[in-house]
Amino acid sequence: MLEQFEKVGKDALAELEEVTDLTALEDYRIKYLGRKGQIIQMLSQIGKLPPEQKPRAGQLANKTKKEVAAAFELLKKTLLQSQEQTGELIDITLPGIPVDIGKTHVIMQTLSELLEIFGRMGFAVAYGPEVEDEWHNFEALNINADHPARDPFDCFYIDDNTLLRSHTSPVQIRVMETTKPPIRIIAPGRVYRPDTVDATHMYMFHQLEALVVDEDVSMVDMKTAIEQFIHAFFGPDTKWRFRPSFFPFTEPSAEVDLLLADKSGKENWVEMGGCGMVDPNVFDAVGIDNEKYTGWAFGFGVERLAMRKYGITDIRLLFENDLRFLEQF
Ligand code: DAH
Repeated sequence: MLEQFEKVGKDALAELEEVTDLTALEDYRIKYLGRKGQIIQMLSQIGKLPPEQKPRAGQLANKTKKEVAAAFELLKKTLLQSQEQTGELIDITLPGIPVDIGKTHVIMQTLSELLEIFGRMGFAVAYGPEVEDEWHNFEALNINADHPARDPFDCFYIDDNTLLRSHTSPVQIRVMETTKPPIRIIAPGRVYRPDTVDATHMYMFHQLEALVVDEDVSMVDMKTAIEQFIHAFFGPDTKWRFRPSFFPFTEPSAEVDLLLADKSGKENWVEMGGCGMVDPNVFDAVGIDNEKYTGWAFGFGVERLAMRKYGITDIRLLFENDLRFLEQF
């Protein structure tokens, strides 16, 4: 008899765990705690037991009844509460549905970081059109008609005078045409060149252009700004150098190289982009007095900066939109 009592108690508690709504709970009440329910039946059997068994059986039956009734009341309260809150019955034991959250593309993350660094250094942001004319993309930048950069094989021409800009330098011209010095801007954006696609070339990529024009601006100002930027973006111990170079729109001109370790730990000088002191001919083209004003400029490749910072070795990964790659940033 005692084992039977114990079993009823265990079954009753186990079955209560399966109950998830008020209808099932009422069925449960009738089955165990109702007048003909198993627990009440159990209590009524005690009277028929021999006197020496009665005390222990009574104790056990009462304990079981108390436990089951308490668990029942607790569940009833919980179910009633959830019904009140939502107006419907919810199964609070179901697992939640995971939500996929989108991410900013690594190139856009890099651009935001660049704008933030130069913002802290007092640069405003300027934008220009991606469809440019020859004046802004070449002529005003002192790139004359027979310069190889103007070859149709090196540019996406739309008609004789119009092309997809091949660099962000035309934004310099647009800013100087409309703004009086002092000028201190950066211009991020897409540029287009019909290069054969490989690990380091793409027909569209991003550049970050900078232009500073004021009285008494010197190459030292340029060097300081570039160094501050490199140290902010790549870390304070990053080594870099100027390498003499030539661009039609700057004189003198230099290329900026960074000393960075590759995967095997070997350090190499890698090119970041060009820079220099604004050529007086460029000031003439936009009507800025080149006796009074001097300036400096640079143009860096944004994909290059991102690839060097994150150790990405193939530029195509940045444009394939493979989530397994993009999720890493
Ligand atoms: N526009 C050049 C290019 O695309 C990069 C460049 C070099 C930009 C020197 C500059 C500069 O502003 O001063 O290759």
